[in-house]
Amino acid sequence: MGETYDRGTVESYDRWTEFSAGMWAWLLHKFSGWILVGYLFMHIPVLSTGVQSMGGGADTYTATLQGLESLLVVRFLEVGLLAVAVFHVLNGVRLLLIDLGLGLENQDRSFYLSLVVTGAIVVASVPTFLGGHL
Ligand code: HEM
Repeated sequence: MGETYDRGTVESYDRWTEFSAGMWAWLLHKFSGWILVGYLFMHIPVLSTGVQSMGGGADTYTATLQGLESLLVVRFLEVGLLAVAVFHVLNGVRLLLIDLGLGLENQDRSFYLSLVVTGAIVVASVPTFLGGHL
């Protein structure tokens, strides 16, 4: 049968200062999920408005994208978006496996692994994004 854990009282808000990998995994998962939703809501109108306001067509779409990519801040934001998306996917798969009962006893280590793999993928992407090879 399952074990029971003493989770403390709900009212003891100061518990967040006690480090626990699971809490940070939970927080980062929520944060990354809602950033992705926010990004999607921004992404679709920005691109479609960009095309329409310039008369439409494939060339104007390309020009809109190249204009955005020419801004360094946009390329930095893309690195950030990649970090958020990769972390959410890796941690999401980790959560789904844990939901299936796989790896619960190693859940701290799999969280750290998802952070390390996210970091490696993001670092590897930097030359491409910041180089602006579009
Ligand atoms: C392969 C891709 C993805 C996987 C494996 C995945 C996995 C998950 C899982 C397992 C949860 C539930 C976490 C829990 O048990 O509390 C979750 C929550 C969530 N996901 Fe994803 N996800 C993916 C892609 C996305 C995308 C593309 C978006 C947004 C556009 C997104 C937005 C969210 C949001 C908003 C939540 C709820 C966060 C909260 O608890 O408030 N996810 N995801």
